[in-house]
Amino acid sequence: MFDKVLRPSLITKLKIAFNFSEVEALLTRSCTSFRLAAGIRLLSAQGGPTVGLGILALLTGGCQDPVRQEQIAALGPEAENVPPGPLHRPGQPCLLCHESMGPANRFTVAGTVFQAPSDRQPVGGVQVQLIDAARRSFVAYTNCVGSFSVTPAEYEPVLPLWVSLSGLGLHIDMESPMHKDGDCGFCHRSEKSPSSAGHVFLSEDPLPVDALPAGSCQGGRP
Ligand code: HEC
Ligand code: HEC
Repeated sequence: MFDKVLRPSLITKLKIAFNFSEVEALLTRSCTSFRLAAGIRLLSAQGGPTVGLGILALLTGGCQDPVRQEQIAALGPEAENVPPGPLHRPGQPCLLCHESMGPANRFTVAGTVFQAPSDRQPVGGVQVQLIDAARRSFVAYTNCVGSFSVTPAEYEPVLPLWVSLSGLGLHIDMESPMHKDGDCGFCHRSEKSPSSAGHVFLSEDPLPVDALPAGSCQGGRP
């Protein structure tokens, strides 16, 4: 939280102090060299290693590579009336933003579960069972928009990571494990295509609407 509040004003100060006309461009183009340059200048300009290292640490949080920034931009803005939080951006690749270099708190696993391949009806109260290479397991539950998220404090899996879903008396496994991270939406884009597995679903066939549990909007065990 602390660094998120400080970062913008800090960058402004840096711009003024060091006449970095290209701070913005550098930030997006080359985080590392910007951070190094800023750190070195601070070290030599004012007050020794402590200030410089502090600045380095502060800037680290906001740096992203340009490819990721483009991918984030392509997702578009927040939906109207849905504040950033557990109910926002269902179906999207959550970890694009929710990772250590991203604009939001890091998650280790996150995604959205829909009822069937053919529709975008979310299912709440689904048990998301995770098991990692170290055979440690964790269970998350989808909320009222079908989403769930896992923080590093809750579960820091050793990859690869396996997942299966249970709910409404149904059970479905993902056969292959995840090797890179637990970002369901990154592979499961809603349109099925050669580069997408289609959105995550609980049932091959659409379920009767009255069978669907609403799922608490707070998430957690229903
Ligand atoms: C485009 C970037 C972006 C995407 C994609 C995104 N989020 Fe977020 N999310 C944010 C930001 C920014 C915040 C507010 C800062 C924060 O709390 O980390 C936030 C906040 C949250 C919070 C509150 C976190 C907290 O620590 O209080 C939850 C929960 C959350 N998002 C869940 C999700 C889920 C689940 C998905 C995917 C279905 C998702 N987000 C996708 C940017 C994103
Ligand atoms: C690296 C890409 C990737 C990630 C990340 C990923 N999946 Fe999958 N998933 C696939 C592919 C490909 C298939 C189809 C083949 C299979 O079952 O392994 C699949 C299949 C599934 C299935 C079985 C139904 C079907 O479509 O065949 C479920 C359920 C599922 N995934 C859930 C999830 C959940 C939940 C997450 C996030 C925790 C997730 N997946 C993350 C690629 C991915």
